[in-house]
This record gives sequence, C-alpha cells and structure tokens, in this order.
Amino acid sequence: MLDWVEVAKVEEIPPGTAAVVDADGIELALVNAGGEFHALAGECPHAGGPLGDGDVVAEYSIECPLHGSVFEVRTGECLKGPAEEPVMTYDTLVEGGVVKVAPE
Ligand code: FES
Repeated sequence: MLDWVEVAKVEEIPPGTAAVVDADGIELALVNAGGEFHALAGECPHAGGPLGDGDVVAEYSIECPLHGSVFEVRTGECLKGPAEEPVMTYDTLVEGGVVKVAPE
C-alpha cells in the first residue's frame, strides 16, 4: 500500500509550470502537465540542478535550469543532454484539491 504525502495545493502549480516540493524530507519536482500532475526526482543527474525550478518546455517535458537537459515527466527518460541518466518518477494523486505523492 502506498504511503501518500501531501505536497501542494492544485492551485499553487498552474498548468505548464513546475515547483520544488518536499515529500517527507525528499525534494521532488512536481510538474503540472496540462492538468496532470507528475513527480520526479528533484535533482538533475548531470550536476544536481533543481528540476522543479526548470521550465516546462513541451507538454510532457521539463528542462533543467542549470545546463538545459530535458526529461520526460511521465517516464523520467532523458530526452536531451548533457545528462545521460533518467530520473526517478513517483506516483501522484489529486484528492480534494491537494496533490499527493508516494515518495517510496
Ligand atoms: S545540472 Fe541539469 S543539465 Fe546540468
């Protein structure tokens, strides 16, 4: 059974934006992709850039703010370097206007 942690209110992260959120001490990037919420590891695998501070550059892609690596927000796949590794993704749930993430 997943352990859901509240990380944000829906209205805090409008469609096409992302934010750095804290899930029980784990920093994650929370992305609103056209109304769908996706959670990824907060640190870029290239040099630790804060992915949640990046721009949503296509419907399901986020760009690292440090050197421009791009990741697919549903799968964590690295679409563009310099990063070479994917990032972890986490299950999300919206309930009562609140976004929850299962950080484990
Ligand atoms: S830290 Fe993300 S691209 Fe370099």
